[in-house]
Amino acid sequence: MPFSPGAGNSDRRPGPRTPRLTLAAEKAILGGEFSVMKDDKIDSLAELLADTRSVAVLTGAGISAESGVPTFRGREGLWKQFRAEELATPEAFARDPALVWEWYDWRRGLIAPVEPNPGHQVLAGWESLFDDFSLITQNVDGLHRKAGSRKVIELHGNIWKLRCTRENTIFDIHDTPLPEIPPACPDCGAMLRPHVVWFGEGLDPEVLDAAFAASAACRAMFVVGTSAVVQPAASLPLVAARAGALIIEINLEPTPLTARADIYFPGRAGEILPLLDRRIRAGRRAGGAGPEKGRS
Ligand code: OAD
Repeated sequence: MPFSPGAGNSDRRPGPRTPRLTLAAEKAILGGEFSVMKDDKIDSLAELLADTRSVAVLTGAGISAESGVPTFRGREGLWKQFRAEELATPEAFARDPALVWEWYDWRRGLIAPVEPNPGHQVLAGWESLFDDFSLITQNVDGLHRKAGSRKVIELHGNIWKLRCTRENTIFDIHDTPLPEIPPACPDCGAMLRPHVVWFGEGLDPEVLDAAFAASAACRAMFVVGTSAVVQPAASLPLVAARAGALIIEINLEPTPLTARADIYFPGRAGEILPLLDRRIRAGRRAGGAGPEKGRS
């Protein structure tokens, strides 16, 4: 499926349709509490998650914003200052690889000194908190890994990886600024490109399959800091919802997904995720960790 911005939220992937009855009941309970204070919502959710074993998280640029990485949309967003079609398409790279590389090298320089924030750290801890945990990110900044997440489904690639345009070999290169622009493949001398997905390109099918499988299998999906307008990533919560998962959105502002989310936490990921984490862990200590309901 090609990478497409603003393509709406239509979900074209077939997904499992069997409803999970216990979850429907849980949703109804939470649904009745939508208007309560944020703190109460956190309690209800934490109670629910105390015995939920299968959790997926989809993150976007918003989770790295508190670390100082610019987001793409919004007033200060990169796409307000730069034109995506001049910098983030295969055509732009073919036309002027040096220009594209200068932009990526600038972004690498911005990200290099940046540290993960409490939002990233909580998600790294969830790898061992939940038996079946999947972290899917649209971010290319590598901050989830830097925070300690070991298994990350990087939908749009990784800015610290470079790919040979001739042989597709992938190299981990952290030098910034790069010694030469455009960089050359150490094996064959061909030009290297950033190992990221550009507009109009397809996502790696294995990565995409892993993301859709995790979304279809989870009982709860957190959607954190994404404008939910870029496909196919924006379809993942819809796949999860259709399979009966609880959808929890954390974002500074409502998105096209908000109306479909079961719970929406307006606010900063770096504050809300630690709050949720504390409540979930407290619930586990209080003995909420029984066998997962509604799953065989
Ligand atoms: P966007 O920049 O489109 O959206 C960032 C979202 O994060 C917005 O909805 C903000 O409201 C929210 N946000 C900002 N700060 C936040 C915070 N502290 N806590 C919670 N939410 C916060 O970024 P993405 O949705 O990730 O692709 O964009 C998707 C893709 O479009 C990116 O992967 C990128 C871009 O073109 C590539 O470059 C390959």
